Amino acid sequence: MADYTLRIRRYSPETGAAPYWENFDVDLDGHRSVLDGILQAKDRTDGSIGIRCSCRAAICGSCGVRINGRPNLACHTHLDKAAETATDGIITVEPMGNMPVVKDLIVDMDAVHWKKIQRVTPWLIPDGEQPEREYIVPPESMIDVTQTMACIQCGACVSDCLSMEVDPLFIGPAALAKAYRFVGDPRDGQQYERLRNLAEDPHGIYDCTHCFNCIEACPKGVAPMSQIMRLRRIANSDHDIEDRNNGHRHERAFVKNIERNGLLHEADLLPDSYGGKFHPRAVPELARGLPAILKALQRRKVTPGKALLHPHKAPDDVKRIYKHVHEKRERFELNLYVVGKEEDEAEPPQGVAVGHEGTEASASSAGHTPAERSPNR
Ligand code: FES
Repeated sequence: MADYTLRIRRYSPETGAAPYWENFDVDLDGHRSVLDGILQAKDRTDGSIGIRCSCRAAICGSCGVRINGRPNLACHTHLDKAAETATDGIITVEPMGNMPVVKDLIVDMDAVHWKKIQRVTPWLIPDGEQPEREYIVPPESMIDVTQTMACIQCGACVSDCLSMEVDPLFIGPAALAKAYRFVGDPRDGQQYERLRNLAEDPHGIYDCTHCFNCIEACPKGVAPMSQIMRLRRIANSDHDIEDRNNGHRHERAFVKNIERNGLLHEADLLPDSYGGKFHPRAVPELARGLPAILKALQRRKVTPGKALLHPHKAPDDVKRIYKHVHEKRERFELNLYVVGKEEDEAEPPQGVAVGHEGTEASASSAGHTPAERSPNR
């Protein structure tokens, strides 16, 4: 048996006392989990340690905690692996972030996580006549949404979401990934309504800042940020949804900016996002940004010449990439969840192409026209 030390953050809000750290020595083999360690400490040393768990097999999602500062499932993290990343060999275990602590390692999932899941109407709303028997769904569409269906609602992505730290009302990675589960399902008849709602919400799909934390945090490979980007692409490219948050125009401005300059030319980005330098919508935004602009000029981060003229022109390589993308008649989404195609595996079904590094690139439901998305398919 090896000895490990767990440093657990203790906190009981109702006592009024400040949180504190407490060390517990456990003797367990390295292949046993951090959850086993916590349960041993609870059993042998202090029965009052608060921890939520159920399946102990990375299925129920209830044992989410932060181990050495990173969110993970306590039942799915080996003690020896956790000790490798621990400072001074002491494994720190603390509650997940962005959610209020109920006691020690238990957070209030209802207050944040479940409320946001409810916000995205997490059920199918098929329209049209119900088929006599079951709905038939193209296999590639199911491959596409299977990634989001793998979510076990542990809240690890919510815990590490930087946007949610700044804006607690942000719908968040878990709930938006759940939204894609239904937006991407060809049986759902409310794709446009769902997307418009999520685009118009100031805390919706355009509130994500691409920090990638949720992708790294997810123990099931759901890649919530990728699902948010898919929602944006469908809202943007398939439905042309112009939202009041200016997310749609801002994204297009980015694309145009790089196409024109090769590098991001920030001086153009803001006015372009609002329709051009002299567009009435851009004027109040530019006025609001004036203090930042003056500071940048003062610190010589930008010069009036560079701001007004375009010092860069897109190199040929960039132009070639744009030409290649513009020439594509249909948009394909890479579904990175289905990986590791074996040499002797059968050819992929029609409509599923093999992507880079052996991953399958599926023609996602995002590429379907509304007519193709009939629930009777
Ligand atoms: Fe169920 Fe860890 S106890 S996921």
